[in-house]
Amino acid sequence: MIINAAMSVDGKIALADGRGVRISDEADIRRVHRLRAQVDAILVGVGTVLKDDPKLTVKREYADGPDPLRIVLDSDGKTPEHAKVLDGSAPTLIVTTADCQRSFRGVEMLRTGTDEVDLHSLLDQLGSRGIRTLLVEGGSTVIWSFLHGGLADELRVFVGSAVLGGATAPTLAGGEGAATLEQAARLRLTRVERLGDGVLLEYAVVR
Ligand SMILES: NC(=O)c1ccc[n+]([C@@H]2O[C@H](COP(=O)([O-])OP(=O)(O)OC[C@H]3O[C@@H](n4cnc5c(N)ncnc54)[C@H](OP(=O)(O)O)[C@@H]3O)[C@@H](O)[C@H]2O)c1
Repeated sequence: MIINAAMSVDGKIALADGRGVRISDEADIRRVHRLRAQVDAILVGVGTVLKDDPKLTVKREYADGPDPLRIVLDSDGKTPEHAKVLDGSAPTLIVTTADCQRSFRGVEMLRTGTDEVDLHSLLDQLGSRGIRTLLVEGGSTVIWSFLHGGLADELRVFVGSAVLGGATAPTLAGGEGAATLEQAARLRLTRVERLGDGVLLEYAVVR
């Protein structure tokens, strides 16, 4: 499982008000679409759907390949009806907690967990339906959940040559954060590439 994100030099993945901003340059966007074309599913949290309304498909101008399954972690079913992930252009799975009442017409749903989506159960169920490669595209809270839960194998971060600043701007990993350094997710740098005007950093997650 791969986590992929783009951040500014100061570690921000969006503006101070949470609005998404294009941190990736053209070369990185091409890389991300090629990566999407190679995986079975792409996963985001509902926070990203609400802020950025991503389509999460493979743009043909950048890569060939089938669109992966789009997965949204959405405990209470807050994904808006007009969200691009519900546009029918690729298969979508909305994952809510067990007691969520909302249903989405024409979209597959999975209900698991109580306070939030149970990621272990989700990954087990994805595995049993043949989804082997998962690309986690954010946002901040979801990236923390996957790293903290020891669920990711790799982290790929494009560092764009900009400083966004803003104390409230989401960083690469949010959530509760580590209480001590021992609780930090540990990474091993495996590759560095100068890409366009930025740097691509690739890490293996140490478990
Ligand atoms: N630069 C980049 O690469 C990039 C990529 C993507 C997003 N972003 C930015 O990231 C920001 C959004 O991040 P965010 O932290 O607000 O939202 P998020 O990580 O996209 O979604 C988090 C939400 O997912 C739901 N969720 C359900 N089960 C979960 C679980 N087990 N673990 C984690 N989340 C779970 C929760 O909402 P419920 O309780 O309502 O279910 C949670 O608040 C936006 O500003 C966006 O622009 C940047």
